[in-house]
Amino acid sequence: MATVPNLTLNDGNTIPQLGFGVFQVPPEDTAKITGQAFEAGYRHIDTAQMYGNEAGVGEAIKTSGIPREELFVTSKLNNGFHRPDDARKAFERTLQALELDQIDLFLIHWPLPTQYDGDFVSTWQTLIEFQKDGRARSIGVSNFQPAHLERLAQETDVVPAVNQIEVHPYFTNDAARAASRDAGILVESWSPIAQGGVLDDDILVDLAGKVGRTPAQVTLRWHVQRGDIVFPKSSTPERMAENFALFDFELDDEAMAAISALDRGEKGRTGPNPDTFDYIPD
Ligand SMILES: NC(=O)c1ccc[n+]([C@@H]2O[C@H](COP(=O)([O-])OP(=O)(O)OC[C@H]3O[C@@H](n4cnc5c(N)ncnc54)[C@H](OP(=O)(O)O)[C@@H]3O)[C@@H](O)[C@H]2O)c1
Repeated sequence: MATVPNLTLNDGNTIPQLGFGVFQVPPEDTAKITGQAFEAGYRHIDTAQMYGNEAGVGEAIKTSGIPREELFVTSKLNNGFHRPDDARKAFERTLQALELDQIDLFLIHWPLPTQYDGDFVSTWQTLIEFQKDGRARSIGVSNFQPAHLERLAQETDVVPAVNQIEVHPYFTNDAARAASRDAGILVESWSPIAQGGVLDDDILVDLAGKVGRTPAQVTLRWHVQRGDIVFPKSSTPERMAENFALFDFELDDEAMAAISALDRGEKGRTGPNPDTFDYIPD
């Protein structure tokens, strides 16, 4: 089995560049599906309070027998809990659900700049507490736009380790990606295959045929060669294995450029725009 590279975060910790995402995995299936991902070789799991399935991830970790230090677990603060006291309680619930004393990475899921009087800075300061007290090894953000990152840089003294943002061939998200990388923040690309939406693209199908791989593998390999972190989701062991097999082939410069040229700008987004997204779950 090919080895997944580890990338070094700006706080000195390392993260496996390839993981497994559990967005839209039903809570009752999460332990089984996460266990199958472990069997396929994944050691990095991306969940969130909003997904409602942290407990299933915790159960899979407990029953896997894999040493804790070989696993990398990420979760994210839900949108209703940005006020510091709510964030503290929600973070405790995350650790309980995962049955962990320490999480590898904890993120603010969305900046919600039109909620909480525009204050995501005090939320970030609360995550800094979690890192200082040792319960979060690394902390980061998700869906932060360049202006949001700039504000954290101006008003706090801890730079997020990652910014988890939508990136795939139809939405290359260049501005947020460049602002992150320029600040020493690693990019995690969410919906890396656009939830399957890019897989029948003629260019990707053609490139896949040329290198003898599938369109999903070619797309995920494009992310990896750009230096981003990915965690595709799949409910089937065959696709889990397919998406894991990325480290024994390469795309040349021409193929990389052809994939990047598929960008459709804002029209290519599959998810909401972080500048206006204001959803607070009940
Ligand atoms: N921070 C955020 O706001 C945010 C937002 C969205 C996602 N995320 C994270 O990013 C992860 C990945 O994104 P995502 O789940 O939205 O989408 P994705 O990984 O781009 O795509 C998942 C979809 O593609 C299908 N699929 C997977 N591998 C395939 C393959 N090899 N061939 C054909 N179809 C395949 C899956 O179907 P099957 O399951 O049926 O195989 C599923 O419908 C999430 O799970 C989550 O951890 C974060």
